[in-house]
Amino acid sequence: MEKTNNDDTNNLNSKNTEKITKDYKIIGDELRTKQLTGRGSKFGKYSEFIVGKKGFAAFLKYEFLTCTFSDCPGALGIFLRGIFYRFLFKKVGKGVSFGRNITIRHPNKIVIGNNVVIDDNCVLDAKGTENKGIEIKDGVFIGRNTILSCKDGNITLEENTNIGFNCELCSANDLNIGKNTLIAAYVYFVAGDHTFNVTDKPVIEQIGRSQGINVGENCWFGVKATVFDGVNIGNDVIIGASAVVNIDIPSFSIAVGIPAKVIKSRL
Ligand SMILES: CC(C)(COP(=O)(O)OP(=O)(O)OC[C@H]1O[C@@H](n2cnc3c(N)ncnc32)[C@H](O)[C@@H]1OP(=O)(O)O)[C@@H](O)C(=O)NCCC(=O)NCCS
Repeated sequence: MEKTNNDDTNNLNSKNTEKITKDYKIIGDELRTKQLTGRGSKFGKYSEFIVGKKGFAAFLKYEFLTCTFSDCPGALGIFLRGIFYRFLFKKVGKGVSFGRNITIRHPNKIVIGNNVVIDDNCVLDAKGTENKGIEIKDGVFIGRNTILSCKDGNITLEENTNIGFNCELCSANDLNIGKNTLIAAYVYFVAGDHTFNVTDKPVIEQIGRSQGINVGENCWFGVKATVFDGVNIGNDVIIGASAVVNIDIPSFSIAVGIPAKVIKSRL
C-alpha cells in the first residue's frame, strides 16, 4: 500500500476532513461492526444493537414475539404476526401483512401505516443512537429479501411506494422515497459512504459520511439501478435498468447509463 505520510498530504487530508465535516453528516464509530465484536457483555450488546432498548423486559418481549411468530408458515403465520407484531413496533396500522422470517432491529423506532405488505425475509433495521428510524406509510409494498438498513439514519417510504425483491435501502442520514414510486428488483440506494482520502489506512478505518438521498413522487427505477449518496431525484422521473445515478435528476426526466445521463424529458 502506498504511504503518504508527508506534510502536504496531511494538510490535504485535514482540509478534506474539514470540508466533509461541514457538508456531510459523519457516521459515528459506535455503529461500526467492530463495536459488535468489541468489549462488553453479550446481553448488553444484543440489547443495544438488536432490541434497541435496554433492560430485561424489553429483551424478553422482543425474544418472545420474534421467536414465537417469526417463522410460522402460511396464512396462520400472517394472521398471528398481524395480531402480535403490533406489540413490537412503535406503531402499526390496520391490515398490515408481515411475511415470514423478517429480521427486525430497533422496532421501537419503526412506524408502519395501514395496508402495508412486508414480504418474507425482509430486514427492517432502524439501528442508531440518535435517529428517528423507519417510517413506512399507507399502502407500501416491500418485496421479499429487501433490506431497509439504518446506520443512525432515517428511511421514509411515502404512500403506495412499491419496492421489488432483493433491494437495499441504506441510510446514515435521511433517505426519502416519494409516494407512488415503483422500484424494480435489485435496486440499491446508498445513502452513506466511506471516505478514502487517506492512503495509509484501509478504507474501513476511515470516517464514514452521508448527505442522504431524496426521491420525489411517481418515479420508476428500473431493475438493478443504483443511487449514490447526496442525490436528489425530482418527481415523475424514470431511471433506466442498471443505471448508476450520481447526479441530481430533474422532474419528468428519463435517465440511463453509467454514470446516469438524462436522455429525454417525458413532457
Ligand atoms: C429507461 C427506459 C424506460 C427507456 O425506455 P425508452 O424511452 O423506450 O427508451 P428507448 O428504448 O427509446 O432508448 C433510448 C436510448 O437509450 C438507451 N437505453 C435505454 N434504456 C437503457 C438502459 N437501461 N441503459 C442504457 N441505455 C439505455 C437505448 O439504447 C437508446 O439509445 P440510442 O438512442 O443510442 O439507440 C427503459 O429502457 C428501461 O430501462 N426500462 C426499465 C425496465 C425495467 O427494469 N423494468 C422492471 C419492471 S418494474
